[in-house]
Amino acid sequence: MRIITVVVFIVFLFGATVVIIAAEGPETVVFEPPMKDKVTFYHHAHQKIVPDCKTCHHNGVDKGSCRKCHDGDIAERFMRKTHVLCRNCHKTKGLPYGCVFCHKK
Ligand code: HEC
Ligand code: HEC
Ligand code: HEC
Ligand code: HEC
Repeated sequence: MRIITVVVFIVFLFGATVVIIAAEGPETVVFEPPMKDKVTFYHHAHQKIVPDCKTCHHNGVDKGSCRKCHDGDIAERFMRKTHVLCRNCHKTKGLPYGCVFCHKK
């Protein structure tokens, strides 16, 4: 009985760790739009600064990447959304919000 409990506990711990790692998403995402300098987005750093995932993942993290939907077809292009969502927050936090804050050579 005790052995079974321990095994179940280990499976539970291991399973939980794998799920958490998978659900955290990428550490950084590099956007390389064809007509503008690339944007390096520090995803894990933003997770620490912005406690609620839904601030960005508005319909839930399980729905996948933003660009899957924001392709200009299913939903408005991602660029239009980020320029509002990302920049507005930076503005309210008193950070620079000029183009070069995000777009770097
Ligand atoms: C400041 C905005 C922001 C916050 C806050 C945020 N994310 Fe993300 N997340 C993104 C962006 C942007 C991407 C990349 C989307 C893309 O590649 O189109 C992403 C990608 C992901 C992915 C990969 C999706 C895929 O299928 O490629 C996962 C998983 C994820 N985030 C989980 C989380 C979790 C969990 C939290 C909260 C702890 C969180 N994110 C908080 C903006 C954010
Ligand atoms: C499953 C599809 C889907 C995914 C995934 C998705 N979106 Fe959306 N999003 C939509 C739809 C549909 C709308 C509403 C129609 C529109 O604005 O084009 C929307 C609207 C928005 C809006 C405007 C919200 C408002 O209140 O006006 C923002 C900002 C946004 N999305 C950003 C993001 C970001 C950032 C991600 C990734 C972290 C993301 N979306 C992931 C489908 C999606
Ligand atoms: C809800 C608030 C919020 C949202 C939404 C947000 N950010 Fe930020 N971002 C911050 C804060 C706060 C910092 C400053 C972090 C610091 O200085 O430690 C920051 C910093 C940055 C930096 C500078 C990082 C560095 O150290 O060079 C970049 C680039 C950036 N954000 C890109 C983005 C992009 C792209 C998005 C949208 C996908 C986004 N951010 C959405 C709050 C936000
Ligand atoms: C908060 C970060 C941020 C700021 C500030 C910002 N951008 Fe962006 N920009 C992005 C992201 C993220 C994308 C989306 C890249 C993608 O969809 O792959 C993007 C995409 C673009 C694109 C699309 C290019 C293409 O080839 O599709 C253009 C053009 C652009 N930005 C111009 C600007 C200009 C001009 C400014 C200043 C007025 C600016 N951006 C400020 C984050 C930012």
